[in-house]
Parts: sequence; C-alpha cells; structure tokens
Amino acid sequence: MVALCWKLSLCFFCYQVVSGRVKREGHYIAAVYEHESILSPNPTALVDRQSALQLMGRNLDIYEQQAVAAARQGAQIIVFPEDGIHGFNFTRSSIYPYLDFALHSQSVKWNPCREPYLFNDTEVLQRLSCMALKNKIFLVANLGTKQPCEHTDPYCPSDGRYQFNTNVAFDADGMLVATYRKYNLYFEYAFDTPPEPDYKVFDTPFAGKFGMFTCFDILFFEPAVNLIRQYNLKQVVYPTAWMNQLPLLSAVEFQQAFATAFNINILAANIHHPTLGMTGSGIYTPAKSFIYHNMESYGGKLIVAEIPVITTDHETNLESNERVRENLHHSCKTFIGTSLDDQVCFREEEETPSRVSEKGNEQLVPVFYSEMMYDNFTFVPVWGEKGELQVCANTLCCYLNYQRADLTGELYALGVFDGLHTVHGTYYVQACALVKCGGLNFSTCGEEVTHATALIDFQLWGNMSTRYVFPLLLTSGIALDFADHMGWKNNHYFISKNRTSFGLLTAALYGRWYEKD
Ligand SMILES: *[C@@H]1O[C@H](CO)[C@@H](O)[C@H](O)[C@H]1NC(C)=O
Ligand SMILES: *[C@@H]1O[C@H](CO)[C@@H](O)[C@H](O)[C@H]1NC(C)=O
Ligand SMILES: *[C@@H]1O[C@H](CO)[C@@H](O)[C@H](O)[C@H]1NC(C)=O
Ligand SMILES: *[C@@H]1O[C@H](CO)[C@@H](O)[C@H](O)[C@H]1NC(C)=O
Ligand SMILES: *[C@@H]1O[C@H](CO)[C@@H](O)[C@H](O)[C@H]1NC(C)=O
Ligand SMILES: *[C@@H]1O[C@H](CO)[C@@H](O)[C@H](O)[C@H]1NC(C)=O
Repeated sequence: MVALCWKLSLCFFCYQVVSGRVKREGHYIAAVYEHESILSPNPTALVDRQSALQLMGRNLDIYEQQAVAAARQGAQIIVFPEDGIHGFNFTRSSIYPYLDFALHSQSVKWNPCREPYLFNDTEVLQRLSCMALKNKIFLVANLGTKQPCEHTDPYCPSDGRYQFNTNVAFDADGMLVATYRKYNLYFEYAFDTPPEPDYKVFDTPFAGKFGMFTCFDILFFEPAVNLIRQYNLKQVVYPTAWMNQLPLLSAVEFQQAFATAFNINILAANIHHPTLGMTGSGIYTPAKSFIYHNMESYGGKLIVAEIPVITTDHETNLESNERVRENLHHSCKTFIGTSLDDQVCFREEEETPSRVSEKGNEQLVPVFYSEMMYDNFTFVPVWGEKGELQVCANTLCCYLNYQRADLTGELYALGVFDGLHTVHGTYYVQACALVKCGGLNFSTCGEEVTHATALIDFQLWGNMSTRYVFPLLLTSGIALDFADHMGWKNNHYFISKNRTSFGLLTAALYGRWYEKD
C-alpha cells in the first residue's frame, strides 16, 4: 500500500503515511486498551505511598507497552479505562496513598514529564505524560487525585481535602491538556463529587475537539449530554469500569447506542474483570463499531482502528425527524402488517388487550409482568411466524411488527417500562424492548441471556416522551448490529431491521427522561 503510493504522486493528496501505516484523508487512528488491572489484594488496608506507587507502577508498565504498540500502529490517541491504575473497592482513607496531586485549573500550563519538580505527589501524572511524549500520542487515562481545600470552602470535606475520580488528557508533547472529575459516582465512597460538573474538552490537530466523561456519567444529562450539546462535540473519550447488565445495559451495547444516537465517535475503554462482569470496550462511529467483549479469557486487549473525523453538522439522530426516507411514507396511512420493507408507518392503535394477527386471524395475547434489570416490565409474548403487537405502560405505548425466519422454539417477548429506576442508581427510564427470554416460562423474560438463534425481521416503535432515545441492537454472543433505519416519525421513535447477522438477543429503544430523575 505504501509502496504503491510512493509511485503515484496523486496519492499524496489523499494519503498520509503515519508511523508506517497509511491513513486516509479525513480519518484518524484511535486506540483503546481494555486493561485487566493488577488489583491490591486488600484495598481497605492502609499502605504507604511507596507501596501504592509500586502497585500502580505495575499497571503503568502495561500501559507503557500498550502506548508503544498503539503508536507503532499509527494511533494518534489512546484511551485507558477507569480505575485501571489503582483498582477499586477502597475506602476514603485507604485510597489516599494512591492519589496524585492535581490542580483542576485551566490556567496552569504544565508538562509533568518535562517539569516534574513543579508539584509533589505527581508520579503517576509524570509517567503518563512521559508515555505520551515518548510515543508522540495523545493519551487519556483515569486516576485518583487529591486537592487540599480550606474550611472556608463550604463543600470542603472535613478531612481538608477533595478526592476525585479523575480523567486526564495529555497531548503528544506530554502537556496536560484537560482534567475531568467524575460527576456521577457509582457508590464510590473513596471519592467526592465535584461541587459543579466539569465540561472538559481538549483540542487535537487530527480530529478537532474531544469531550470526556466517565462510566456512569453516560446515563445522565449532566455533564455528558450537556457537554456534547454545548460544544457540538463529535468525538468523545470515555474511560469506564462498567459491569455488564443484560439485556439492556451491556457495555458495548450502550456505548454503540450512545454513538449512534448523538451521531458521534466514542473511544471507550473498559477494564477487564470477567468475574465481576466487566468487559466491553470499543471504537464506535455512528455507523461502524470495533469492539471487544470477552467473558472467557483473561488479560488485556488493544483495539486500534482508523475512523472518519465527523465534521458534518448534521442534526443528531435524537433530533432528526423526518430524515428517513420521507418520500416513501407519504402515502402510507395504515400499518402494513404483512410485508416488512423499508417503510415505516404508524397506525393509531387500539387499547390493550393486545392482539397478534396472523393471516387474518386475530388472537388475544396475554399481558404479563416480569422483572427486567430490577424494573417491573409489562410484556406480551411474541408468538408465531409474524404479527403485530402493542403493549403499554403509563404514558408509553410500544409497537412491534415482526416476522421470524423460522420458529426456533425460543420465546421472545415485547416489553415496556415507563418509570423511575431505583436500584443501583436513580434514573427515569422509558423503554420498549424486544428480548429473548431465558426459557419458555413467561417469568424468564427479562433474564440475562447471551445466546440466541432466531432471526427476526422487525419494526419497533414507541411514543416516547423524551427525545433522548438510545437504539439498542444486540445479537447472539454479545455481538452488535446496526438498525437499517431509525429516527423520529410522527412523534414516535422507531428502529427497523430486516435481517440481523446472528440470533437476536435485544432490540430496544432505551429512552432516558432526564427531567424526571
Ligand atoms: C469489590 O467489591 C465487590 C462488591 O462489593 C466484590 O464483589 C468484589 O469481589 C470486590 N473486588 C475486589 C477486588 O476486592
Ligand atoms: C515537596 O515536598 C518537599 C518535602 O516534603 C518540600 O520540601 C517541598 O517544598 C515540596 N514542594 C512543593 C512544590 O510543594
Ligand atoms: C430481507 O432480507 C433478506 C435477506 O437479505 C432478503 O432476501 C429479503 O428480500 C429482505 N426483505 C425485505 C422485505 O426487504
Ligand atoms: C408490576 O406492575 C403491575 C401493574 O402495575 C402490578 O400489578 C404488579 O403487582 C407489579 N409487580 C411487581 C412485582 O411489583
Ligand atoms: C402514547 O400512546 C397512547 C395510546 O395511544 C396514549 O394513551 C398515550 O397518551 C400516548 N403518550 C403520549 C406521551 O403521547
Ligand atoms: C413459571 O415460573 C413460575 C415462577 O418461577 C412458576 O411458579 C410456574 O410454575 C412456572 N410455570 C411453568 C409452566 O413452568
């Protein structure tokens, strides 16, 4: 490829040779590293700074190898996961020796590798900065930081210091260009919530502005959604330590849905601890994903991919309305139940009980309740080769038009939930979900399932009250697929897919109604 290009002078206009790899114009090469962190055997014990640095040094040694490997493949930016350097399960006092000092100030320009003497207790920042500098790569990592505060500060904790879960970004010269303090902590008693949400972006020569936030933040308006909107961001870096929860919140499933919904690229790095259900990293564009999800083996995984810089100022899918094949729809007054083509039309549905119609025979289907991810979903079974279904709860009605390629003996159900989720965090969810059940009993619908064989063509839509709807499409073995069409139509959000590549696990519209949290 490179040799060919040297001969064709025209190629110089469209290709750049970057560290031995050819990069296309309008693209950049990104890397994320899913890291299996070396954990403290006893995270609640108090240790001294030297022992803490020793443990973190072992993780940083691995980071260093990965930064070298990524740079060799031409990567211009690498993202490491949340908690990857120090681990987790600390108490407020036991994490203290693991914390670096960090100034959360935009005004101080500091290159920790070149100016290590400026601040004490910055060994981790120095190593990260040197990695970026040596490898000429933008580098994003997560660490614990401390910042002394005065008792005149009303938010200052009683021990006189803040402890933050912090992301740092270095440019290719090792300069610290942004620090972000996690705002939506997930039961992390070692850390403080910053008094105000940080909106942090940094600029790159290859893809413009990047925003950043951390893990649980992805489910909330502040700062994630607000940041993307305010800065019109098209690139996000996202360190996470995410415990997968099927059927709706596995890491790769939601990361992709977020990239699609906002029409952005996301570089997401998760930690790798299968026994804790933690895996799932990826480089996502709105139309393509490069992912890693592995519950079987141990060790880390570097993902490197070349992706397009998104520059177009298109509306996001969340906002786009009549964008999708509008011309096909104008004559479409009634729902077409028998042919699943690209058309999406909506008919005003009758009230429950739900009906499934097959070859003209209307059949009542039972409505049942089953818990899915701690929420009381209202379900109807998806029976037969094809049909139309609706199911409602509160103000949300969900509709499904489906056709199964063959009857595999697996039970699927269409579920709806419109309410406040209150377990492991409080947030308001509006969801329409077509899921494979764990068995044939209705009570198994909503269970975590990882394998499926049924190929189902479907159109799924609902009259969501929030514009923030994340389209999920997960197939057997935790693989991802993309909907053929999605977006808003007549105040309903819809997705449609004619043929998934593998058996269907979950097709869902996961709406977040932030105002009702
Ligand atoms: C951390 O805590 C979780 C739940 O509290 C537990 O399941 C896990 O084993 C702990 N991990 C470590 C490394 O201590
Ligand atoms: C760093 O710590 C040393 C020893 O405690 C102290 O003498 C020095 O003033 C500190 N430097 C800074 C920049 O705080
Ligand atoms: C769905 O996809 C299959 C396989 O690609 C194709 O044969 C079929 O015609 C498609 N159906 C529709 C309605 O587009
Ligand atoms: C689920 O919701 C339905 C309808 O509101 C209710 O009848 C049922 O008792 C609920 N189930 C549970 C387990 O809360
Ligand atoms: C959704 O549709 C149902 C059924 O038509 C209706 O009762 C409900 O009010 C609608 N919800 C909203 C928010 O419009
Ligand atoms: C379905 O599961 C429920 C709850 O586990 C149980 O009570 C019921 O007997 C099961 N039904 C069948 C048909 O197995």
